Amino acid sequence: MAQVLCHIPKNVDPNLIVGIDTSDDGAVYKINDDTAIIQTVDFFTPVVDDPYVFGQIAAANSMSDIYAMGSDPKLAMNIIAFPNCLSADVMTEILKGGNDKVLEAGALIVGGHTIEDDEPKYGLSVTGFINPKDVVRNSSAKEGDYLILTKPLGIGILNTAIKADMASENGYKEAIKTMTTLNKKAKDSMMEVGVNSATDVTGFGFLGHGLEMAKGSNKTFVFYSDKVHFIEEAYELANMGIIPEGAYNNKTFIGDNVKISEDVSEPLRDILFDPQTSGGLLISVSKEKKDGLMEKLKDLDTEYRLVGRVLAKQDHYIVVE
Ligand code: CO
Ligand code: CO
Repeated sequence: MAQVLCHIPKNVDPNLIVGIDTSDDGAVYKINDDTAIIQTVDFFTPVVDDPYVFGQIAAANSMSDIYAMGSDPKLAMNIIAFPNCLSADVMTEILKGGNDKVLEAGALIVGGHTIEDDEPKYGLSVTGFINPKDVVRNSSAKEGDYLILTKPLGIGILNTAIKADMASENGYKEAIKTMTTLNKKAKDSMMEVGVNSATDVTGFGFLGHGLEMAKGSNKTFVFYSDKVHFIEEAYELANMGIIPEGAYNNKTFIGDNVKISEDVSEPLRDILFDPQTSGGLLISVSKEKKDGLMEKLKDLDTEYRLVGRVLAKQDHYIVVE
């Protein structure tokens, strides 16, 4: 996003706490000393056939950036593109799925906009509020921090297999469960304990979003490949060459900012580059607070793994062991 916006003059306003410079999850604008507004938007084409489930996934994904910044979504607006040739019932189901997720998050849909388009698209623009001192940026990891990842990887690979009718019933269920799960509990855990930095893992994949964090923080992230968790079936599928195009784009985008050990298998590499839809949070937490965070995540039944450490900047921003 920052790449395409680079020719547009930057906004200069002292109340803009987080803008586009650090490719953060949302924009944060200070209203007064106690309150800032967080804004984000996301929408995409269907990843599954079931319109109700697609609505849930798109809404969970759109609200995720607010969680990644440490707050709860409050207001949401529907963004819909819809072809004339499709039955209106399909749109109703998409909107129902979206609305149910928004209600689950404790937020409200307060409007929206629909246009006609050849391919359906759905998502939300989302607003949240936060005390300016509580904002969790994606560019403030500290040397010595531990890196925690919630939600398993491999969602993009599973989605590619689902489209080709190559995923098992189990793989399908696991992918849907992962994508429709809100990052709310992960957010509640990190805000209770206090963390240094976080982002949500979406289109740029685990390594792409890790790179944004490492670069923004001017640190090196070391990831332990054997600790990263993924939907089991993703490995087998990647081994068969079922890999979304986005994974190759991510590889190109990340380029030589990452050094991966030769011991890391090819399918696991693909999983690390795999673009995620509604993925989990990548959290950078101090050594003192990491146990508290893991305990809290466990209490709230939130899947997580300790996947790496933050070091002083070395030759590469990312090292995968
Ligand atoms: Co994000
Ligand atoms: Co986003």
